[in-house]
Amino acid sequence: MKFICVLPVALLLVGSVVSHQYNLGSCPPDVPFQSHLDIDKFLGVWYVIQMSSSASACHKLNITRDGEDLRLVTYSRYGLLQKAVDHTFIDTAALRMPDPTEPAKMKIKYSMYMWWEDFTVISTDYDNFAAAFSCVNVIHVGNRQNGMILSRKPYLDLATADSLRKTFEFFGADRSSLSFINQKDCTGLLKSKSEHDRIISLGTLNINRDPKHK
Ligand SMILES: *[C@@H]1O[C@H](CO)[C@@H](O)[C@H](O)[C@H]1NC(C)=O
Repeated sequence: MKFICVLPVALLLVGSVVSHQYNLGSCPPDVPFQSHLDIDKFLGVWYVIQMSSSASACHKLNITRDGEDLRLVTYSRYGLLQKAVDHTFIDTAALRMPDPTEPAKMKIKYSMYMWWEDFTVISTDYDNFAAAFSCVNVIHVGNRQNGMILSRKPYLDLATADSLRKTFEFFGADRSSLSFINQKDCTGLLKSKSEHDRIISLGTLNINRDPKHK
């Protein structure tokens, strides 16, 4: 049994940076993981092809080293308000590998939450695809999950996407919540808050007031 929280739009927008799905019960106990993950080959830009309950488009990640930890920057676009205005989220999360012998079992801390949650690289071939899953138990609610199917390119062939989708149901994640992210017309996605002087930044939401910037 699952449910999705309904929040006021502003809150929903901010919450959607970390797209998620609330489920009853605890996080799935046995999430499969890529053994001997080579973290350096996993770094770089990933396009989010499918993701749990997301209303964003042009969603991509850039994973880089940050001292001992990693940094995961999320870029995504929302068209909920006026079409002429480009709403981009740029959000930074920290990734940590508590057990160096199992680097695929990471912890993530999103900027708007105080806690670290599990972030598991389920599978990747480094050059084409990856599947990742994060989950946290939420007191009195159940758990909040986020599944992601990633590609090095803005698209992923259906056979690969389907087989990655199936891996989610093997360990009890809700694969029906994985929605397709539109990666078309994503040129001009803002890269930083300071990139354009007509950007208004409200926390992680960056609104580009100049539609020509698209
Ligand atoms: C990814 O992040 C690195 C380090 O901040 C940066 O140099 C690089 O340009 C970024 N790549 C993209 C495509 O945003």
